[in-house]
Amino acid sequence: MRVQIAIIGAGPAGLLLGQLLARAGIDAIVIEQRSPDHVLGRIRAGVLEQVAVDLLDEAGVGARMHAEGLVHEGFELGFNGGRQRIDLAGLTGGKRVMVYGQTELTRDLMDARAAAGLPTVYGAQDVSIHDFGGERPRVRYLKDGVWQEIVCDFIAGCDGYHGVCRASVPQGALSIYERVYPFGWLGLLSDTPPVSEELIYSSHPRGFALCSMRSRSRSRYYVQCSLDDKVAQWSDAMFWDELRRRLDPRAAASLVTGPSIEKSIAPLRSFVAEPLRFGRLFLAGDAAHIVPPTGAKGLNLAASDVRYLSRALVEFYAGSSSGIDHYSENCLRRIWKAERFSWWMTTLLHRFPGTSGFDQKLQEAELDYLVHSTAAQAALAENYAGLPF
Ligand code: APR
Ligand code: PHB
Repeated sequence: MRVQIAIIGAGPAGLLLGQLLARAGIDAIVIEQRSPDHVLGRIRAGVLEQVAVDLLDEAGVGARMHAEGLVHEGFELGFNGGRQRIDLAGLTGGKRVMVYGQTELTRDLMDARAAAGLPTVYGAQDVSIHDFGGERPRVRYLKDGVWQEIVCDFIAGCDGYHGVCRASVPQGALSIYERVYPFGWLGLLSDTPPVSEELIYSSHPRGFALCSMRSRSRSRYYVQCSLDDKVAQWSDAMFWDELRRRLDPRAAASLVTGPSIEKSIAPLRSFVAEPLRFGRLFLAGDAAHIVPPTGAKGLNLAASDVRYLSRALVEFYAGSSSGIDHYSENCLRRIWKAERFSWWMTTLLHRFPGTSGFDQKLQEAELDYLVHSTAAQAALAENYAGLPF
């Protein structure tokens, strides 16, 4: 089989790229190792920057998001028993974010792909990529016991952190930058109304907590936990008790609890692999970088890579290789700013085991600075709402 672009991975990055390319008349196949249900089973942050919302509109998949998503003009920082609102819209000249679950977004992209009859292979085993140093890259995989081979112009590696694409780059061609944090997030999803209209990021001596939501009747909460913790050790009741302790009294009193629909522990990591292009292979999304979830930049960064890549490929087929030549450096400029912001917000709000009193005092001073300085709030708001392209 021959296509212009072989996209490896049907997460948000791969599906969004496929959609943008299809609208530009470029033919692509998406090859995914898992089943659609498995892909939809992953629960991840759901806060979209305006630029990501615009890109989804451009891809023609924004209708349900606009109908069901929640537009937020601010969020709150909880500490010292109180809360400080960060007025995103007021501090950024009107920018807002869209709270819309990544599962729903992925479903919309899957539905659009199916409705347009675009080729997608789920359940592809032993995917491997070849010859991306030359002009005729190839992708091989096993499907229903039969080996398949695809010849293409370019391979888009949208196969996440554990994917095969980054792993196929020759040793020594990649520079890896990484920080692993000494704690995790225990997340719980429940069909209960959110504790507050806006998200609350809470810093507490017992550890960080986050109150988020998927809709007006479905909430997503997190508490910082130890990396040694196991989900089975945390009953729902223990989770709710711990969350309540880490919130201010007003939020704690209005927290509505209920049975969990999902509960999981995620480690926190900052990771960047450079560059993002090797000949005719491009990495995009989690395949190239990971941020800790504080600030919800993961999906937004994936969207930003895909924006650059889709435009670069459209330009290429129109006769210019400038976009693909600058793909890596364009992406990395935004990636590193989002890495910096996610690291900063993580460091500001979590308790680090074994930290000195000095570090603790710095955290307190930074929060106090945020309360009293509009400039500091504006810097936070500008990054949270999303930096311009
Ligand atoms: N072959 C084919 N598909 C693969 C392979 C492989 N060898 N390895 C992984 N995949 C698939 C995974 O099953 C997954 O569906 O690639 C997809 C990658 O999707 P994601 O991990 O969701 O990554 P991405 O699309 O870049 O999305 C970024 O996800 O982790 C969050 O915070 C992140 O929100 C951001 C978003
Ligand atoms: C979420 O809703 O899952 C979420 C929201 C904001 C974050 C992280 C996760 O910063």
